[in-house]
Amino acid sequence: MANNILKGKRGIIFGALNEKSIAWKVAELAHAEGAEFVLTNAPIAMRMGEINNLAEKTNSQVIAADATSDEDLENLIEQSMEILGGKIDFILHSIGMSPNVRKGKHYTELNYKFYSQSLDISATSLHKVLAISMKKDAISEWGSVLALTYIGAQRIFPDYNDMADAKSLLESISRSFGYHYGIKNKVRVNTISQSPTATTAGEGIKGFNEFINFSDQMSPLGNATAEACAEYCISMFSDYTRYVTMQNLFHDGGFSSTGVTQQVVDKFAE
Ligand code: NAI
Repeated sequence: MANNILKGKRGIIFGALNEKSIAWKVAELAHAEGAEFVLTNAPIAMRMGEINNLAEKTNSQVIAADATSDEDLENLIEQSMEILGGKIDFILHSIGMSPNVRKGKHYTELNYKFYSQSLDISATSLHKVLAISMKKDAISEWGSVLALTYIGAQRIFPDYNDMADAKSLLESISRSFGYHYGIKNKVRVNTISQSPTATTAGEGIKGFNEFINFSDQMSPLGNATAEACAEYCISMFSDYTRYVTMQNLFHDGGFSSTGVTQQVVDKFAE
C-alpha cells in the first residue's frame, strides 16, 4: 500500500516503547513511505531495549532524551539534524504519563508534585520541543509537528484524572505555537485526538477495558486502531495536508459527534 509519500523527508519520532505504541506503528509506516528519522524515548524506557528492534527494522538511530529536559532536547535536535543531514520535516510527540494515575490518586486529592510532572511530561514538553526547534531553526518550511491527544481534554471521563488537564494544555500549546511558528517559518502544528487504544499508557487508565468497549459502541465506525492512527499521522506529515495547522483533529470513528448510538440505547431497554 505504501506510495512513498514521505520520500526525502526527515523526522523525529518520540514515544515508541513497544510494538503496541502508536509511535511504533507511525515509525513502521513512515519507513515504508520513504522517510528517514531518529527514534527517541526517555532513558528509562530505553532500558527495556525494544526500541532497538524498531531501529534495526526501520534503519534508524536512537537518541535517548527525557522530554522534560532542555539539555536532552537540545542535544536530540542538534544530533538529529547531523545524522539526517539537514533540517527536520516532521516531528511526532507521542508522550503521556501521569504519576497521579499511576499511584491511584483521585482527581480531587491530587499530589501537586505529581501534577506538575504530569503537565511537564505530557504537555510542556511539546512547548520545549517547538521552542528549541525554533531557536535552532531546525524545522523546514511546511514542516509538520503532531502531538497525540484524547477527547478527555474537552469532556469529562472521570478516571482520565489529571491527564485531562495535561491534554487541554497540550492542545492549547499546539494552537498557540502553531500560530507563531506558522508566521515565522510556515511550520504547522496539530494534535490528533485518538480513540482509546490498547497500549501501555492506555491500559494504565482505571477501567480501561470496559471503557474501550463503551467507546467502540459509541462510535459509528468503531474505535480507530493504532495502525489507522499511524496512517492519519503519515498523511499529516505529507505535503497533501500543507494548509492544515492549529487544529485538534478527531480520529475516533465519529465518537466526538455522537450523542448516543442505538447499540448503547438498547442496553437500557427493559
Ligand atoms: P505508550 O505507553 O506506548 O507511549 C507513551 C510514551 O511516552 C512511552 O514511550 C513513554 O516512554 C513515553 N514517555 C513517558 N515519559 C517520558 C519522558 N519523560 N520523556 C520522553 N518520553 C516519555 O502509549 P501510547 O498509547 O502509544 O501513547 C502515545 C500518546 O498517545 C500519548 O500522548 C497518549 O496520551 C496518546 N493517546 C493514547 C490513547 C490510548 O488510549 N492509548 C488515546 C488517545 C491519545
